[in-house]
Amino acid sequence: MESTHFHHDLALLDWQIELGVTEAICDAPVNRYDVPAALEKPKAVAQAPAAVMNMAPAKVDAVAEAERAAKAAGTLDELRAAMTGYEHCDLKKGARNLVFSDGIPGARVMLVGEAPGRDEDLEGRPFVGRAGQLLDKMLGAIDLGRDRQDAPVYITNVMPWRPPQNRDPKPEEIAMMKPFLLRHIALAAPEVLVIVGNWSCQALLGKRGITRLRGTWTEAAGLPALPMFHPAYLLRSAEFKREAWADLQSLQARLRKTKGAA
Ligand code: URA
Repeated sequence: MESTHFHHDLALLDWQIELGVTEAICDAPVNRYDVPAALEKPKAVAQAPAAVMNMAPAKVDAVAEAERAAKAAGTLDELRAAMTGYEHCDLKKGARNLVFSDGIPGARVMLVGEAPGRDEDLEGRPFVGRAGQLLDKMLGAIDLGRDRQDAPVYITNVMPWRPPQNRDPKPEEIAMMKPFLLRHIALAAPEVLVIVGNWSCQALLGKRGITRLRGTWTEAAGLPALPMFHPAYLLRSAEFKREAWADLQSLQARLRKTKGAA
């Protein structure tokens, strides 16, 4: 037995010398096929951040995210929470408050403004500054009011956060907040919309040009909609109050005509 092993080992050595082996590097033989179990499976490569790997971060589709979040909201409270948690609009970073709405949900009239200003940002309610005071007077002139249980109005804005220095909202900002606005309108379920200002027309009608659009009933979000001058514009250009008054009367006439018809 012993001698068989000896001859076998000698044959192996001869064979290795034939292959060109000139030195032994270990005293004891090493079985290279005997790999420790821990080394067998390649370890999962830890994911380095994209920046470290010099790759562009995966691009988020902010509009698709907004659509998904808005659709999932089944109530106005859920919609407010969804907007509060939405992180893709840069305006949020510079704003003090989310300005969601004011007035009475379920009102026959829903008014859509543009974006909060300084006062609205501080208070977290739309139209509380000078333009808001004029708006309340305008609505009061046709017996409507945001706090009137008998003839309420529900008020919101296209943008829930104040743009820095009251700059115009960017097209991409409008696009990403539009799914929330449409869901807001669907959940508040008004009978008619009043769209004040150019940027609200841009969001809901896809066009601007309030001087041309105002006073003509159209359709937005599947509802009858009346574009009107923005009260902030009327504060600067009082000569257009006549047109604003004509539009308010048109709104009142429509509400009278359809009262009880729904
Ligand atoms: N202008 C708007 O369009 N909305 C507000 O809430 C305030 C001013």
